[in-house]
Amino acid sequence: MAEKETSKRGTWGSKVAFILAAAGSAIGLGSLWRFPIMVGRLGGAVYVFAYILAVFFIGFTEMLAELAIGRRTQKNPVGAFEAIRPHSGWKYLGYAGVITTMAILSYYAVVAGWAFGYLYKTIFGLFRNITWESSAAIFERFVANPWESLFCFFMVMAITTYIISRGIQSGIERFAKILMPLLFILMIFLAVRALTLPGASRGIAFYLKPDLSQIDVKVLFFAIGQAFYSLSLGMGIMITYGSYISRRENLVSSAGWVCFSTTLVAFLAGIIIYPTLFTTPGLSPEKFEPSLGLMFQTIPLVIDKLPGGFLFGLLFFILLQVAALTSTISLLEVPVAFFIDEHKWTRPKAAIFLGSLCFLLGIPSALSVGASATLTRFGFFNKMDLLFGNILLAIGGLGVLIFLVYFWGLKPALEEIRTGCPRFRLEKLWVFNVRFLAPLAILILLVFIKTITQ
Ligand code: PFF
Repeated sequence: MAEKETSKRGTWGSKVAFILAAAGSAIGLGSLWRFPIMVGRLGGAVYVFAYILAVFFIGFTEMLAELAIGRRTQKNPVGAFEAIRPHSGWKYLGYAGVITTMAILSYYAVVAGWAFGYLYKTIFGLFRNITWESSAAIFERFVANPWESLFCFFMVMAITTYIISRGIQSGIERFAKILMPLLFILMIFLAVRALTLPGASRGIAFYLKPDLSQIDVKVLFFAIGQAFYSLSLGMGIMITYGSYISRRENLVSSAGWVCFSTTLVAFLAGIIIYPTLFTTPGLSPEKFEPSLGLMFQTIPLVIDKLPGGFLFGLLFFILLQVAALTSTISLLEVPVAFFIDEHKWTRPKAAIFLGSLCFLLGIPSALSVGASATLTRFGFFNKMDLLFGNILLAIGGLGVLIFLVYFWGLKPALEEIRTGCPRFRLEKLWVFNVRFLAPLAILILLVFIKTITQ
Protein backbone atom coordinates (compact mmCIF):
# COMPACT_ATOMS: atom_id res chain seq x y z
CA MET A 1 0.00 0.00 0.00
CA ALA A 2 2.66 2.43 1.00
CA GLU A 3 4.37 2.27 -2.38
CA LYS A 4 1.23 3.55 -3.97
CA GLU A 5 1.16 6.68 -1.91
CA THR A 6 1.96 9.65 -4.03
CA SER A 7 1.99 13.29 -3.01
CA LYS A 8 -1.76 13.04 -2.50
CA ARG A 9 -3.05 9.74 -1.23
CA GLY A 10 -2.47 6.82 -3.56
CA THR A 11 -5.11 4.44 -4.82
CA TRP A 12 -5.09 0.78 -5.80
CA GLY A 13 -4.11 0.28 -9.44
CA SER A 14 -7.46 -1.28 -10.31
CA LYS A 15 -10.50 -2.92 -8.83
CA VAL A 16 -8.88 -6.32 -9.22
CA ALA A 17 -5.79 -5.11 -7.36
CA PHE A 18 -7.96 -3.95 -4.49
CA ILE A 19 -10.00 -7.16 -4.34
CA LEU A 20 -6.85 -9.26 -4.30
CA ALA A 21 -5.24 -7.17 -1.58
CA ALA A 22 -8.36 -7.15 0.60
CA ALA A 23 -8.86 -10.87 -0.02
CA GLY A 24 -5.20 -11.33 0.91
CA SER A 25 -5.90 -9.74 4.27
CA ALA A 26 -9.15 -11.64 4.72
CA ILE A 27 -8.12 -15.12 3.57
CA GLY A 28 -5.78 -16.52 6.14
CA LEU A 29 -5.64 -18.63 9.25
CA GLY A 30 -9.12 -17.45 10.23
CA SER A 31 -10.64 -19.44 7.37
CA LEU A 32 -8.14 -22.27 7.17
CA TRP A 33 -7.37 -22.94 10.82
CA ARG A 34 -10.00 -21.25 13.03
CA PHE A 35 -13.20 -21.92 11.10
CA PRO A 36 -12.87 -25.75 11.12
CA ILE A 37 -12.19 -25.70 14.89
CA MET A 38 -15.32 -23.64 15.50
CA VAL A 39 -17.35 -26.06 13.35
CA GLY A 40 -16.18 -28.95 15.50
CA ARG A 41 -16.83 -27.16 18.77
CA LEU A 42 -20.25 -25.79 17.87
CA GLY A 43 -22.22 -28.63 16.42
CA GLY A 44 -21.07 -29.07 12.82
CA ALA A 45 -23.42 -28.17 9.98
CA VAL A 46 -25.60 -25.82 12.04
CA TYR A 47 -22.56 -23.66 12.64
CA VAL A 48 -21.53 -23.82 8.96
CA PHE A 49 -24.91 -22.44 7.90
CA ALA A 50 -24.96 -19.87 10.70
CA TYR A 51 -21.56 -18.66 9.50
CA ILE A 52 -22.71 -18.33 5.88
CA LEU A 53 -25.77 -16.35 7.00
CA ALA A 54 -23.61 -14.19 9.27
CA VAL A 55 -21.29 -13.35 6.36
CA PHE A 56 -24.19 -12.47 4.07
CA PHE A 57 -26.32 -10.42 6.45
CA ILE A 58 -23.77 -8.98 8.85
CA GLY A 59 -20.24 -9.36 7.43
CA PHE A 60 -21.11 -7.90 4.02
CA THR A 61 -23.07 -5.06 5.64
CA GLU A 62 -20.18 -4.22 7.93
CA MET A 63 -17.59 -4.47 5.17
CA LEU A 64 -19.45 -2.03 2.97
CA ALA A 65 -19.82 0.35 5.93
CA GLU A 66 -16.08 0.24 6.70
CA LEU A 67 -15.03 0.62 3.06
CA ALA A 68 -17.37 3.61 2.62
CA ILE A 69 -15.99 5.36 5.72
CA GLY A 70 -12.42 4.69 4.55
CA ARG A 71 -12.95 5.88 1.00
CA ARG A 72 -14.84 9.00 2.01
CA THR A 73 -12.21 10.15 4.50
CA GLN A 74 -9.07 8.66 2.91
CA LYS A 75 -7.67 8.16 6.40
CA ASN A 76 -6.60 5.59 8.98
CA PRO A 77 -9.41 4.61 11.41
CA VAL A 78 -8.57 7.18 14.10
CA GLY A 79 -8.28 9.98 11.54
CA ALA A 80 -11.40 8.78 9.72
CA PHE A 81 -13.76 9.06 12.72
CA GLU A 82 -12.17 12.40 13.61
CA ALA A 83 -12.61 13.71 10.05
CA ILE A 84 -16.35 12.97 9.93
CA ARG A 85 -17.08 13.92 13.57
CA PRO A 86 -14.29 16.19 14.87
CA HIS A 87 -13.77 16.40 18.65
CA SER A 88 -16.59 13.96 19.33
CA GLY A 89 -14.71 11.19 21.07
CA TRP A 90 -15.42 8.75 18.22
CA LYS A 91 -11.73 8.61 17.50
CA TYR A 92 -11.43 6.38 20.60
CA LEU A 93 -13.19 3.69 18.61
CA GLY A 94 -10.27 3.97 16.20
CA TYR A 95 -7.83 3.64 19.12
CA ALA A 96 -9.70 0.53 20.30
CA GLY A 97 -9.22 -0.93 16.81
CA VAL A 98 -5.49 -0.22 16.95
CA ILE A 99 -5.21 -2.04 20.30
CA THR A 100 -7.37 -4.95 19.13
CA THR A 101 -5.23 -5.52 16.02
CA MET A 102 -2.09 -5.62 18.16
CA ALA A 103 -3.64 -8.09 20.61
CA ILE A 104 -4.96 -10.32 17.83
CA LEU A 105 -1.65 -10.26 15.99
CA SER A 106 0.15 -11.33 19.17
CA TYR A 107 -1.53 -14.76 19.20
CA TYR A 108 -2.37 -15.01 15.49
CA ALA A 109 1.33 -14.89 14.63
CA VAL A 110 1.89 -17.80 17.03
CA VAL A 111 -0.32 -19.93 14.77
CA ALA A 112 1.42 -18.52 11.69
CA GLY A 113 4.60 -19.75 13.43
CA TRP A 114 3.12 -23.26 13.58
CA ALA A 115 2.61 -23.05 9.82
CA PHE A 116 6.28 -22.05 9.51
CA GLY A 117 7.32 -25.07 11.62
CA TYR A 118 5.20 -27.39 9.48
CA LEU A 119 7.00 -26.14 6.40
CA TYR A 120 10.38 -27.39 7.56
CA LYS A 121 8.87 -30.51 9.11
CA THR A 122 7.45 -31.34 5.67
CA ILE A 123 10.88 -30.78 4.09
CA PHE A 124 12.42 -33.16 6.65
CA GLY A 125 9.86 -35.77 5.58
CA LEU A 126 8.18 -36.08 8.97
CA PHE A 127 4.74 -36.74 7.58
CA ARG A 128 5.40 -39.89 5.53
CA ASN A 129 3.14 -42.86 6.33
CA ILE A 130 1.40 -40.85 8.96
CA THR A 131 -1.49 -42.02 11.18
CA TRP A 132 -3.89 -39.92 13.25
CA GLU A 133 -2.02 -40.84 16.43
CA SER A 134 1.43 -39.97 15.07
CA SER A 135 0.13 -36.77 13.52
CA ALA A 136 -1.45 -35.65 16.79
CA ALA A 137 1.77 -36.52 18.62
CA ILE A 138 3.92 -34.46 16.20
CA PHE A 139 1.76 -31.40 16.81
CA GLU A 140 1.63 -31.84 20.56
CA ARG A 141 5.37 -32.33 20.83
CA PHE A 142 5.97 -29.27 18.66
CA VAL A 143 3.81 -26.86 20.67
CA ALA A 144 5.03 -28.27 23.97
CA ASN A 145 8.59 -27.38 23.05
CA PRO A 146 8.96 -23.74 24.16
CA TRP A 147 12.11 -23.04 22.16
CA GLU A 148 10.83 -24.37 18.88
CA SER A 149 7.44 -22.67 19.07
CA LEU A 150 9.02 -19.38 20.17
CA PHE A 151 11.58 -19.60 17.37
CA CYS A 152 8.84 -20.10 14.75
CA PHE A 153 6.74 -17.30 16.23
CA PHE A 154 9.79 -15.04 16.22
CA MET A 155 10.50 -15.81 12.55
CA VAL A 156 6.97 -14.85 11.51
CA MET A 157 7.09 -11.60 13.47
CA ALA A 158 10.54 -10.79 12.07
CA ILE A 159 9.41 -11.35 8.45
CA THR A 160 6.21 -9.33 9.00
CA THR A 161 8.15 -6.48 10.64
CA TYR A 162 10.73 -6.46 7.85
CA ILE A 163 8.09 -6.25 5.11
CA ILE A 164 6.18 -3.49 6.92
CA SER A 165 9.31 -1.51 7.80
CA ARG A 166 10.39 -1.41 4.17
CA GLY A 167 6.86 -0.51 3.02
CA ILE A 168 6.93 -3.31 0.47
CA GLN A 169 3.51 -4.76 1.12
CA SER A 170 2.37 -4.09 -2.41
CA GLY A 171 5.33 -6.13 -3.68
CA ILE A 172 4.16 -9.04 -1.57
CA GLU A 173 0.62 -8.53 -2.75
CA ARG A 174 1.74 -8.78 -6.36
CA PHE A 175 3.32 -12.09 -5.49
CA ALA A 176 0.23 -13.21 -3.55
CA LYS A 177 -1.88 -12.48 -6.63
CA ILE A 178 -0.44 -15.60 -8.25
CA LEU A 179 -0.11 -17.70 -5.13
CA MET A 180 -3.61 -17.24 -3.71
CA PRO A 181 -5.39 -18.65 -6.77
CA LEU A 182 -2.90 -21.51 -6.60
CA LEU A 183 -3.88 -22.16 -2.98
CA PHE A 184 -7.47 -22.28 -4.08
CA ILE A 185 -6.74 -24.84 -6.83
CA LEU A 186 -4.71 -26.97 -4.44
CA MET A 187 -7.56 -26.90 -1.94
CA ILE A 188 -9.95 -28.18 -4.58
CA PHE A 189 -7.60 -31.11 -5.23
CA LEU A 190 -7.39 -31.88 -1.54
CA ALA A 191 -11.16 -31.58 -1.19
CA VAL A 192 -11.74 -34.07 -4.00
CA ARG A 193 -9.27 -36.49 -2.39
CA ALA A 194 -10.89 -36.08 1.03
CA LEU A 195 -14.39 -36.59 -0.38
CA THR A 196 -13.37 -39.82 -2.11
CA LEU A 197 -11.75 -41.44 0.93
CA PRO A 198 -13.61 -44.59 1.94
CA GLY A 199 -16.00 -43.71 4.74
CA ALA A 200 -15.95 -39.96 4.02
CA SER A 201 -19.73 -39.75 4.21
CA ARG A 202 -19.80 -39.57 8.04
CA GLY A 203 -17.67 -36.47 7.93
CA ILE A 204 -19.75 -34.95 5.15
CA ALA A 205 -22.93 -35.56 7.14
CA PHE A 206 -21.42 -33.92 10.23
CA TYR A 207 -20.32 -30.93 8.14
CA LEU A 208 -23.37 -30.46 5.92
CA LYS A 209 -26.40 -32.10 7.52
CA PRO A 210 -27.70 -29.74 10.19
CA ASP A 211 -28.82 -31.14 13.51
CA LEU A 212 -31.35 -28.47 14.45
CA SER A 213 -31.19 -29.32 18.13
CA GLN A 214 -27.74 -27.70 18.13
CA ILE A 215 -29.03 -24.19 17.39
CA ASP A 216 -28.52 -21.73 20.25
CA VAL A 217 -27.27 -18.22 20.97
CA LYS A 218 -23.73 -19.50 21.38
CA VAL A 219 -23.68 -20.76 17.78
CA LEU A 220 -24.97 -17.42 16.50
CA PHE A 221 -22.54 -15.37 18.55
CA PHE A 222 -19.51 -17.33 17.41
CA ALA A 223 -20.75 -17.34 13.81
CA ILE A 224 -20.86 -13.54 13.81
CA GLY A 225 -17.49 -13.40 15.57
CA GLN A 226 -16.00 -15.71 12.94
CA ALA A 227 -17.52 -13.64 10.11
CA PHE A 228 -15.79 -10.54 11.53
CA TYR A 229 -12.55 -12.40 12.15
CA SER A 230 -12.32 -14.02 8.75
CA LEU A 231 -13.29 -10.85 6.88
CA SER A 232 -10.88 -8.65 8.90
CA LEU A 233 -13.73 -6.48 10.22
CA GLY A 234 -14.45 -4.56 13.39
CA MET A 235 -10.98 -3.15 13.91
CA GLY A 236 -10.24 -0.72 11.14
CA ILE A 237 -8.40 -2.86 8.60
CA MET A 238 -11.11 -2.39 5.97
CA ILE A 239 -11.39 1.33 6.77
CA THR A 240 -7.69 1.59 6.00
CA TYR A 241 -8.01 -0.53 2.85
CA GLY A 242 -11.05 1.49 1.74
CA SER A 243 -9.03 4.67 2.01
CA TYR A 244 -6.94 3.48 -0.92
CA ILE A 245 -9.85 2.68 -3.28
CA SER A 246 -10.50 5.06 -6.14
CA ARG A 247 -13.92 6.70 -6.33
CA ARG A 248 -14.42 5.18 -9.76
CA GLU A 249 -14.56 1.68 -8.29
CA ASN A 250 -17.65 -0.22 -7.27
CA LEU A 251 -17.54 -0.78 -3.50
CA VAL A 252 -20.53 -3.10 -3.50
CA SER A 253 -19.18 -5.66 -5.92
CA SER A 254 -15.69 -5.41 -4.40
CA ALA A 255 -17.06 -6.18 -0.93
CA GLY A 256 -19.16 -8.97 -2.42
CA TRP A 257 -16.15 -10.62 -4.04
CA VAL A 258 -14.05 -10.46 -0.89
CA CYS A 259 -16.88 -11.99 1.19
CA PHE A 260 -17.52 -14.68 -1.39
CA SER A 261 -13.91 -15.77 -1.86
CA THR A 262 -13.21 -15.85 1.88
CA THR A 263 -16.31 -17.92 2.60
CA LEU A 264 -15.41 -20.33 -0.18
CA VAL A 265 -11.93 -20.91 1.22
CA ALA A 266 -13.33 -21.50 4.73
CA PHE A 267 -15.96 -23.84 3.34
CA LEU A 268 -13.34 -25.83 1.41
CA ALA A 269 -11.13 -26.07 4.49
CA GLY A 270 -13.98 -27.87 6.29
CA ILE A 271 -14.66 -30.06 3.27
CA ILE A 272 -11.03 -31.21 3.40
CA ILE A 273 -10.78 -31.63 7.14
CA TYR A 274 -14.03 -33.32 8.23
CA PRO A 275 -14.27 -36.20 5.76
CA THR A 276 -10.56 -36.92 6.37
CA LEU A 277 -10.97 -36.82 10.10
CA PHE A 278 -13.93 -39.15 10.22
CA THR A 279 -12.31 -41.79 8.08
CA THR A 280 -10.05 -42.25 11.11
CA PRO A 281 -11.32 -45.25 13.05
CA GLY A 282 -12.51 -44.52 16.55
CA LEU A 283 -13.27 -40.79 16.08
CA SER A 284 -16.94 -40.11 16.41
CA PRO A 285 -18.43 -36.84 15.15
CA GLU A 286 -20.74 -36.40 18.08
CA LYS A 287 -18.09 -36.72 20.75
CA PHE A 288 -15.41 -34.83 18.93
CA GLU A 289 -13.89 -31.71 20.56
CA PRO A 290 -11.17 -30.36 18.28
CA SER A 291 -7.97 -28.94 19.68
CA LEU A 292 -6.13 -25.88 18.38
CA GLY A 293 -4.06 -28.28 16.30
CA LEU A 294 -6.99 -29.61 14.23
CA MET A 295 -5.84 -28.35 10.84
CA PHE A 296 -2.19 -29.21 11.47
CA GLN A 297 -3.05 -32.72 12.58
CA THR A 298 -5.47 -33.48 9.75
CA ILE A 299 -3.96 -31.98 6.59
CA PRO A 300 -0.87 -34.28 6.59
CA LEU A 301 -3.25 -37.29 6.62
CA VAL A 302 -4.99 -36.33 3.38
CA ILE A 303 -1.75 -35.18 1.75
CA ASP A 304 -0.13 -38.53 2.55
CA LYS A 305 -2.89 -40.24 0.58
CA LEU A 306 -2.12 -38.34 -2.63
CA PRO A 307 0.37 -39.59 -5.20
CA GLY A 308 3.34 -37.22 -4.98
CA GLY A 309 2.19 -36.31 -1.48
CA PHE A 310 5.52 -34.75 -0.51
CA LEU A 311 5.27 -32.07 -3.20
CA PHE A 312 1.62 -31.40 -2.43
CA GLY A 313 2.49 -31.06 1.25
CA LEU A 314 5.34 -28.70 0.53
CA LEU A 315 3.18 -26.58 -1.75
CA PHE A 316 0.32 -26.50 0.75
CA PHE A 317 2.48 -25.30 3.64
CA ILE A 318 4.25 -22.71 1.46
CA LEU A 319 0.89 -21.32 0.37
CA LEU A 320 -0.46 -21.45 3.92
CA GLN A 321 2.56 -19.41 5.01
CA VAL A 322 1.91 -16.80 2.30
CA ALA A 323 -1.80 -16.62 3.25
CA ALA A 324 -0.83 -16.15 6.90
CA LEU A 325 1.76 -13.48 6.06
CA THR A 326 -0.58 -11.36 3.93
CA SER A 327 -2.85 -11.32 7.00
CA THR A 328 -0.17 -10.60 9.63
CA ILE A 329 0.97 -7.75 7.39
CA SER A 330 -2.51 -6.23 7.28
CA LEU A 331 -2.79 -6.53 11.07
CA LEU A 332 0.52 -4.82 11.76
CA GLU A 333 -0.15 -2.12 9.15
CA VAL A 334 -3.05 -0.68 11.20
CA PRO A 335 -0.99 0.42 14.26
CA VAL A 336 2.01 1.30 12.09
CA ALA A 337 -0.08 3.57 9.82
CA PHE A 338 -1.55 5.15 12.94
CA PHE A 339 1.85 5.99 14.45
CA ILE A 340 3.14 7.30 11.12
CA ASP A 341 0.05 9.47 10.42
CA GLU A 342 -0.78 10.70 13.89
CA HIS A 343 2.57 10.71 15.68
CA LYS A 344 4.85 11.33 12.69
CA TRP A 345 7.05 8.32 13.43
CA THR A 346 9.17 6.98 10.58
CA ARG A 347 7.96 3.70 9.08
CA PRO A 348 10.95 1.59 10.23
CA LYS A 349 10.75 2.97 13.77
CA ALA A 350 7.01 2.26 14.02
CA ALA A 351 7.37 -1.22 12.51
CA ILE A 352 10.27 -2.31 14.71
CA PHE A 353 8.75 -0.92 17.90
CA LEU A 354 5.26 -2.37 17.30
CA GLY A 355 6.53 -5.66 15.86
CA SER A 356 8.71 -6.20 18.95
CA LEU A 357 5.84 -5.27 21.24
CA CYS A 358 3.57 -7.82 19.57
CA PHE A 359 6.24 -10.47 19.92
CA LEU A 360 6.56 -9.81 23.66
CA LEU A 361 2.78 -9.76 24.08
CA GLY A 362 2.49 -13.07 22.24
CA ILE A 363 4.97 -15.04 24.36
CA PRO A 364 2.34 -16.18 26.93
CA SER A 365 0.06 -17.31 24.08
CA ALA A 366 2.89 -19.26 22.47
CA LEU A 367 3.61 -21.01 25.76
CA SER A 368 0.00 -21.72 26.67
CA VAL A 369 -0.63 -24.59 24.26
CA GLY A 370 1.41 -27.12 26.22
CA ALA A 371 4.81 -25.56 26.91
CA SER A 372 3.91 -23.97 30.26
CA ALA A 373 1.59 -25.99 32.49
CA THR A 374 0.31 -22.91 34.34
CA LEU A 375 -0.52 -20.90 31.22
CA THR A 376 -2.04 -23.95 29.54
CA ARG A 377 -4.30 -24.63 32.52
CA PHE A 378 -5.32 -20.98 32.59
CA GLY A 379 -6.17 -21.25 28.89
CA PHE A 380 -4.37 -18.01 28.04
CA PHE A 381 -4.54 -18.53 24.28
CA ASN A 382 -8.27 -19.26 24.25
CA LYS A 383 -8.97 -16.33 26.56
CA MET A 384 -7.13 -13.93 24.24
CA ASP A 385 -9.09 -15.28 21.28
CA LEU A 386 -12.41 -15.00 23.08
CA LEU A 387 -11.80 -11.48 24.35
CA PHE A 388 -10.18 -9.90 21.30
CA GLY A 389 -11.12 -12.23 18.44
CA ASN A 390 -14.82 -12.36 19.35
CA ILE A 391 -15.98 -9.82 21.91
CA LEU A 392 -13.91 -6.80 20.93
CA LEU A 393 -14.41 -7.37 17.20
CA ALA A 394 -18.16 -7.48 17.79
CA ILE A 395 -18.06 -4.31 19.91
CA GLY A 396 -15.86 -2.55 17.32
CA GLY A 397 -18.17 -3.63 14.51
CA LEU A 398 -21.25 -2.45 16.40
CA GLY A 399 -19.53 0.89 17.03
CA VAL A 400 -18.89 1.37 13.31
CA LEU A 401 -22.54 0.68 12.44
CA ILE A 402 -23.86 3.09 15.10
CA PHE A 403 -21.39 5.71 13.93
CA LEU A 404 -22.45 5.32 10.32
CA VAL A 405 -26.19 5.46 10.94
CA TYR A 406 -26.40 8.13 13.65
CA PHE A 407 -23.27 10.24 13.42
CA TRP A 408 -22.31 10.22 9.77
CA GLY A 409 -25.77 9.61 8.32
CA LEU A 410 -27.25 7.12 5.90
CA LYS A 411 -27.61 9.73 3.19
CA PRO A 412 -23.93 10.65 2.81
CA ALA A 413 -22.97 7.00 3.32
CA LEU A 414 -25.27 5.92 0.50
CA GLU A 415 -23.95 8.72 -1.70
CA GLU A 416 -20.46 7.38 -1.14
CA ILE A 417 -21.50 3.82 -1.94
CA ARG A 418 -23.40 4.88 -5.05
CA THR A 419 -20.32 6.64 -6.38
CA GLY A 420 -18.86 4.09 -8.74
CA CYS A 421 -21.89 1.84 -8.32
CA PRO A 422 -24.69 3.10 -10.55
CA ARG A 423 -27.11 0.34 -9.52
CA PHE A 424 -26.95 -0.82 -5.93
CA ARG A 425 -29.48 -3.63 -6.13
CA LEU A 426 -29.27 -4.67 -2.50
CA GLU A 427 -29.63 -1.10 -1.26
CA LYS A 428 -32.87 -1.63 0.68
CA LEU A 429 -31.59 -4.79 2.30
CA TRP A 430 -28.30 -3.12 3.20
CA VAL A 431 -30.09 -0.15 4.77
CA PHE A 432 -32.31 -2.48 6.78
CA ASN A 433 -29.31 -4.54 7.91
CA VAL A 434 -27.16 -1.58 8.79
CA ARG A 435 -29.91 0.14 10.77
CA PHE A 436 -31.59 -2.79 12.46
CA LEU A 437 -30.57 -6.34 11.82
CA ALA A 438 -26.80 -6.18 12.27
CA PRO A 439 -26.63 -3.82 15.29
CA LEU A 440 -29.52 -5.53 17.07
CA ALA A 441 -28.13 -9.01 16.50
CA ILE A 442 -24.73 -7.98 17.85
CA LEU A 443 -26.24 -6.07 20.76
CA ILE A 444 -28.51 -8.91 21.86
CA LEU A 445 -25.68 -11.39 21.69
CA LEU A 446 -23.40 -9.10 23.70
CA VAL A 447 -26.06 -8.87 26.39
CA PHE A 448 -25.99 -12.66 26.67
CA ILE A 449 -22.23 -12.75 26.70
CA LYS A 450 -21.99 -14.27 30.17
CA THR A 451 -24.19 -17.21 29.29
CA ILE A 452 -22.46 -17.62 25.95
CA THR A 453 -18.97 -17.78 27.37
CA GLN A 454 -19.72 -20.18 30.23
N1 PFF B 1 -8.92 -12.13 8.26
C1 PFF B 1 -7.64 -12.74 8.45
C2 PFF B 1 -7.83 -14.17 8.85
O1 PFF B 1 -8.98 -14.56 9.09
O2 PFF B 1 -6.90 -14.92 8.91
C3 PFF B 1 -6.74 -11.94 9.37
C4 PFF B 1 -7.40 -11.42 10.58
C5 PFF B 1 -7.88 -10.16 10.61
C6 PFF B 1 -7.59 -12.20 11.67
C7 PFF B 1 -8.58 -9.68 11.71
C8 PFF B 1 -8.23 -11.75 12.78
C9 PFF B 1 -8.76 -10.49 12.78
F1 PFF B 1 -9.40 -10.07 13.82
